[in-house]
Formats: sequence, structure tokens, C-alpha cells
Amino acid sequence: MSYRIAPSILSADFARLGEEVNHVIAAGADWIHFDVMDNHYVPNLTIGPLVCEALRPVTQAHIDVHLMVEPVDALIPMFAKAGANSITFHPEASRHVDRTLALIRDHGCMAGLVFNPATRLDWMDHVMDRLDMILLMSVNPGFGGQSFIPETLEKLAAARERVSEWEVRTGKRILVEVDGGVKADNIAQIARAGADTFVAGSAVFGAARAEDPNRYDTVIAAMRGELARARERD
Ligand code: DX5
Ligand code: ZN
Repeated sequence: MSYRIAPSILSADFARLGEEVNHVIAAGADWIHFDVMDNHYVPNLTIGPLVCEALRPVTQAHIDVHLMVEPVDALIPMFAKAGANSITFHPEASRHVDRTLALIRDHGCMAGLVFNPATRLDWMDHVMDRLDMILLMSVNPGFGGQSFIPETLEKLAAARERVSEWEVRTGKRILVEVDGGVKADNIAQIARAGADTFVAGSAVFGAARAEDPNRYDTVIAAMRGELARARERD
């Protein structure tokens, strides 16, 4: 299994966003996780397609857009045009989940559903063929810097089981991403539970960035080391 580390720029220095993106990618990150909050679906208000468009020429990296918005559909063409590579949304925020997933793919992006800690995995039952990825929230959405909810591990295992069964049956891959409270000291456990793609905001950007310019390398290398160990123990 290959693993992806996706720093969430929600915890980056917004005054130097382009540089921050380049630094984490240079430090070994795979994807850039882009948290979109609308002050409606969640209380916070963050960044939209204009910021995605501004970052697109700055990096070749995969931009992973996580929509915490309601309604969902109108933003999809805007983010696709702004250079998003994947777009995920919360199914309860869309009137027609199947149609929204199709819309994302029609615009050339990978499509996925996001599950809050209290959202049932059953939402994916009838749309498996439309999924490129699923994202399990390990905190309640809205803010960076919260603690990992341990019950997510069991839910991840259940999600991995569904996805593996689908992959064996169809030969199609669905990525399993986790978001919230992921750190070097719990990433191995999360990987063993079934995740292959790891969002980390405060763990990557939060720590002593000004004092230690190698900090991103150190944190990301520590995460990779833990992931390698998790794989060995499999
Ligand atoms: C929360 C966001 C997360 C968040 C993760 O609503 O979706 O992506 O930025 O931040 P940490 O890693 O600090 O929990
Ligand atoms: Zn997110």
C-alpha cells in the first residue's frame, strides 16, 4: 500500500501561503489539503476558489479540496477551473449525492465523500462506483488543532473492509483518507486501522515554524518513519 501525507494549509501562515506550500512539498509532503469552510455548514470561514487559483501556478502538487459547505454543487466547477485535483464533500450537505459525485468527475477531478464522526458509512453504499476516495473525519469539522477521536479507528477498519471488498470485486481503487488530529505519534495506528492518506494541519505547520526552518522536514520524516514501521508490522 502506498501512503500519502497531505498537510492542511488551514494551519499555514496565510500571509505566505505560496511559500508554505512549496516548503511542505519540498519537505516531502505528497498532497496539499485545502479546507473550504463557509460559515454555514461549519461555523468557520476560510478560503475559496480564488486562493486555489492563486496557488495552482505555484505548485505541481495534487490539491485536495475538502468542501465543508452547503449547498455544494455551485462550487464544484469553480474549484475544478481553479485547478483542484480532488474534491470531497459532506453527503448530508448535498440534495443529490450521486449527482454531485458525477459532477466532480465530469469536471475532471477525483471525487469523494466525507464522513463526520457521527455520519454513517452507509452513505457510500449505492455510490461506490462513483467514488475515487472517501474521507473520514477524526474530529468534528470546523477547526484545526483538535484531538483525534479514538472511535475513528474502528470506523476506519469498517471503511477499509468495504473498500477492499469493492476493490477485489471490481479492480477499482478507492483511497481512504483521514482528517483531524493526525500526528507523528498516532499515524502508525491510524495506518494500521486502514487509512492510506493522512491530512495533518497543526502537526505539520503548527510547530515552531519560524524558529526552525527544517521543522517541516523533521515532522514529515517522522510521519514517514512511523508509516514505514506500520507497514513492516502488517
Ligand atoms: C477540520 C479540517 C482539517 C484540519 C486538520 O475541519 O478539515 O483538515 O485542518 O487540522 P489538524 O491536523 O490540526 O487537526
Ligand atoms: Zn480537511
